[in-house]
Amino acid sequence: MIEIIPLAEIPSDWTEELLDRAFGNDRYKRTAYKVREGVEELGALSFAAIDGERHLAGTIQCWPVMLSEPDGKTHPMIMVGPVAVLPERQGENIGRLLMRKMLDTLAINESLPLVMVGDPEYYDRFFAFSAEGTAGWDMPGPFEKHRLLARVREGQTIPEKGMLGPWKRG
Ligand SMILES: CC(C)(COP(=O)(O)OP(=O)(O)OC[C@H]1O[C@@H](n2cnc3c(N)ncnc32)[C@H](O)[C@@H]1OP(=O)(O)O)[C@@H](O)C(=O)NCCC(=O)NCCS
Repeated sequence: MIEIIPLAEIPSDWTEELLDRAFGNDRYKRTAYKVREGVEELGALSFAAIDGERHLAGTIQCWPVMLSEPDGKTHPMIMVGPVAVLPERQGENIGRLLMRKMLDTLAINESLPLVMVGDPEYYDRFFAFSAEGTAGWDMPGPFEKHRLLARVREGQTIPEKGMLGPWKRG
């Protein structure tokens, strides 16, 4: 039995240990970390999956970021990720439960575009994240273009060009 609870309810070192196991100890070098550098996670959109014995099986975190257009105009967005499931618990629907909880919470509270770096084979297939609108976007470090994904609501438009970075008060 998997239960999805607010991430704040578990010790933060459990989360760090799980992320090391899912992504490796050098995960901090990833460009996604630079995009969200210095900002606090969005507690209302960050969750933990725990099993019947209250062992941590997976986590999802979200962050406030923004896309800055070449003319300086900025657009607040929500960065999703890391989404991580313990290697030995992958394929048990835990990733989908975490994503669904985040999206359901968001549906009630928020309307900002979502952005993430991840495999389209998973995040497009199950959650309609797409690289279609992000071809002209940049990040502060190397990244694979086809893995920079966005999810917008119907009728919502996103800029064609821009640089992603931490959200800053204007
Ligand atoms: C990616 C991840 C979050 C998915 O969570 P999960 O609980 O293992 O996946 P689910 O059980 O919800 O879904 C399983 C399905 O998704 C597919 N899937 C899982 N990860 C996938 C990936 N990276 N690419 C393509 N398909 C994937 C599985 O093949 C399976 O498909 P099936 O139902 O047709 O057999 C998890 O595997 C993970 O933590 N991976 C390592 C970290 C990572 O790469 N995260 C993504 C970047 S943020």
